[in-house]
Amino acid sequence: MTEAAFRSIGLVVGALVLLTFLVLWIRNVRDSRAELGSEIELAPNKKPYLSDAELEGPKLDRSLSFALVVLGLCSLSLPFYWLAEPGRQDGAIENWDATHHRRGENLYTNGAQCVNCHAAGGVGGVASYVFQDADGQFIANAQWKAPALNNVLLRYSEAEVEYILNFGRPGSPMAAWGTPGGGPLTTQQVDSDLMTYIRDFQVQSLDPIDIQSAGDEADPNDAESIAAQAEADEIEAAIRAEVERSLAAGEFETEGEAVFNMGLYSGYAAGAYSCARCHTAGWSLGADVMEQVGVDVLGEGVAGCAGGNPSGIGFSICDGAVFNHFPDDTWLMPDGSWPGEEMRGIGPNGEAGVLALDNTLILLDDKGIPVDATGEAYIITGDGDLADCGFVSALWADDNGNVYPYDPATRLVVDDSANGFVEVPEFTAPADAAGVIEFADGRIGTGCEVIEMPPRTSQAMYEFVYNGAEAGRGYGRGGQSGQGMMPGFGSTLPPDYIQAAVDYVRGL
Ligand code: HEC
Ligand code: HEC
Repeated sequence: MTEAAFRSIGLVVGALVLLTFLVLWIRNVRDSRAELGSEIELAPNKKPYLSDAELEGPKLDRSLSFALVVLGLCSLSLPFYWLAEPGRQDGAIENWDATHHRRGENLYTNGAQCVNCHAAGGVGGVASYVFQDADGQFIANAQWKAPALNNVLLRYSEAEVEYILNFGRPGSPMAAWGTPGGGPLTTQQVDSDLMTYIRDFQVQSLDPIDIQSAGDEADPNDAESIAAQAEADEIEAAIRAEVERSLAAGEFETEGEAVFNMGLYSGYAAGAYSCARCHTAGWSLGADVMEQVGVDVLGEGVAGCAGGNPSGIGFSICDGAVFNHFPDDTWLMPDGSWPGEEMRGIGPNGEAGVLALDNTLILLDDKGIPVDATGEAYIITGDGDLADCGFVSALWADDNGNVYPYDPATRLVVDDSANGFVEVPEFTAPADAAGVIEFADGRIGTGCEVIEMPPRTSQAMYEFVYNGAEAGRGYGRGGQSGQGMMPGFGSTLPPDYIQAAVDYVRGL
């Protein structure tokens, strides 16, 4: 019940009691008549008590009046208690919050010294880390970025953050702090104190629904919503400025790459917005450390895409991502809808399927790869059609007709004498009359039959990145099912940046 409702109920009940009291009193006064005298004699040996006239008259009236006053006080005190109750409740909540905020702040800055790594106000910082090889031999001193926590509740649920605080990130400088993970802090210190403090320094979400509900939901123009919008605009502008800065500085080649690796060189928000800090091996250790080790930091497996954070929370999402990890977004139905439940479990081993444009059913294996009746995988052309070829070259040719060997394990490079080694440009050509196809990876197939497929989109992956992993439910083939450790970015990144990161990953 709202405070106002509480107050008005209290007021109405109070007024009713007062009114009843007045009505009864007035009626009582009007009904009373003058008492007749008493004729009873007093016994001579007794202390004279009040006369009947007095007992039934003024004495009775006095007692009854007293009872009435007490009754009135009792009935009035109830509504008055109601009047004070909302204030008392608010006070209790405020007091609870203030107490836990104070204790949480104390833990953050003194007791547990989160501040040393995550900085004051949770804006993000760095942690010293000794990078060792598998045998414990020193490789380098690194500064492991400790992500900004002032938006951590926009990316994770409270339960997920409590999980991180309890169990830490094994293999990273983030220790297990809670008793369940063997740490020094009690459950109350983690769940109530630290969580209250962390909650209190969260920045504004970029999600329009959150902005709207900052104030009166019925009124999009109330002061709180306008303030929330202004704060969101400011945060978004800063993120865009960082991405544009990094592109202008030549740190990255595409917007998607810049979003994926955001903060690699600048330390922006200590990686709170980047994907690479979990999905690559080199991001958290930093470009300079990777240079010491002699690794190209933007090469695949470091901060390009692939690898997986040394703390083990993420993993390669690029290697074969399109085929292996996102079965749900492989192809739309010919009518443009998503394949529904009815397309699942239709193969002999429960495989899912999709429909080609001519309505032939194409089975997908358990990794989402389209297979023919003999279980042989189709080859996918650059525009998402399926090809069944008699022969596919182990060589590929560049635009000038030079032919190179094809090694599926490494990305193809061209020996370009002007620019050194550069990556293969993506190119495809439709099957010609002779059934010859150049695939997106540069291989050439002959004797190919092409099955025209509906368009492929990245919608499912976009939604996954927007919402994050659901605790207890893995996603895709690499799904860790359970800890919900893939954050959702819907409240912290503008939609076009999420799409850019998704496109970038799918392009690798
Ligand atoms: C020694 C430095 C250090 C200290 C002290 C520390 N952290 Fe961390 N924390 C890190 C690092 C580094 C990471 C990122 C780990 C990774 O790359 O997965 C991290 C990750 C986190 C995360 C997950 C954030 C995300 O977006 O993935 C949370 C939440 C967190 N820390 C909260 C805390 C709190 C609260 C405290 C104090 C009780 C604390 N940390 C103390 C270094 C530290
Ligand atoms: C804090 C670490 C972390 C960050 C940051 C992170 N991820 Fe993830 N990601 C994970 C984890 C853990 C999983 C596995 C989730 C599961 O299935 O439970 C995952 C899974 C994924 C998957 C599904 C992979 C598969 O094999 O099915 C995709 C796609 C993905 N992440 C993309 C991204 C993108 C894009 C970003 C940046 C916008 C990002 N991630 C940022 C930890 C992270």
